[in-house]
Amino acid sequence: MPKLTIAIDGPAGSGKSSVARRVAATLGYLYLDSGAMYRAVALKALRNAVPLDDDARLEGLARESHIELKPPTSEQEAAGLKNRVFLDGAEMTYEIRSGEVAQAASRLATIAGVREVLVAEQQRAGAGGGVVMEGRDIGTVVFPRAELKIFLEASPEVRAERRWKEHQEKGETATRDEVLEEVRVRDQRDRERKVSPLVRAQDAVLVDNTAMGIEETARLIVMLAREREKEAASGKSA
Ligand code: CDP
Ligand code: CDP
Repeated sequence: MPKLTIAIDGPAGSGKSSVARRVAATLGYLYLDSGAMYRAVALKALRNAVPLDDDARLEGLARESHIELKPPTSEQEAAGLKNRVFLDGAEMTYEIRSGEVAQAASRLATIAGVREVLVAEQQRAGAGGGVVMEGRDIGTVVFPRAELKIFLEASPEVRAERRWKEHQEKGETATRDEVLEEVRVRDQRDRERKVSPLVRAQDAVLVDNTAMGIEETARLIVMLAREREKEAASGKSA
């Protein structure tokens, strides 16, 4: 079967990483989390005290950064880790997951120069096909010709509840309301920014998984992917 490019976009906590990882594992595809790249540059900016309104320095930071996404070891995978992130050779898998880094990432994701650098990296990483990439602009900008595009949605309350539970499991103290506010602010910024805002590509399949589990959502996407693989094999366009 031909190997597809699958783009999964959607707001924070909609289940992109969990679902994309499972879909990739089932199909034997590579899973790539583009958000981890924005988070890695954001972490570097925070650590180097680069002001989040200094667009030129942030673009420079993105340009000089070396970010690698690697699959987890089998033990890490069993513990629920979706991928490993290395920044300039040092592992930052856990450090990039804080609320502070998420907010900083969504701020620097509004800068065209930063996006240009990371989009080029993402296109290189997924160039061979057989890849499930998730983010905000994968179906619209990074891989506009992806054979299968999914726009994953869930209600803001459910998305915030999912994120809050993750924070709780890590022993963090943020309240439900604080997490809901963090998710709300970030969504609004991601949807309203001028460059590559979070929008559903016209040809993306809208999947609302407010009331669906990860497994069920992944199964639906795998079904769609298998159909597209068959269509690609027989030369029909989707
Ligand atoms: O990547 P994204 O921010 O879109 O979401 P995620 O990190 O995959 O999922 C956020 C949390 O919601 C994780 O703890 C998932 O286990 C959980 N989740 C869920 O309970 N049910 C779903 N249908 C999707 C995700
Ligand atoms: O996991 P979650 O959905 O909370 O966020 P993420 O996918 O790790 O992305 C963090 C931030 O990076 C987002 O809020 C976006 O501002 C930005 N991002 C983006 O602009 N474009 C992408 N393709 C991926 C992430």
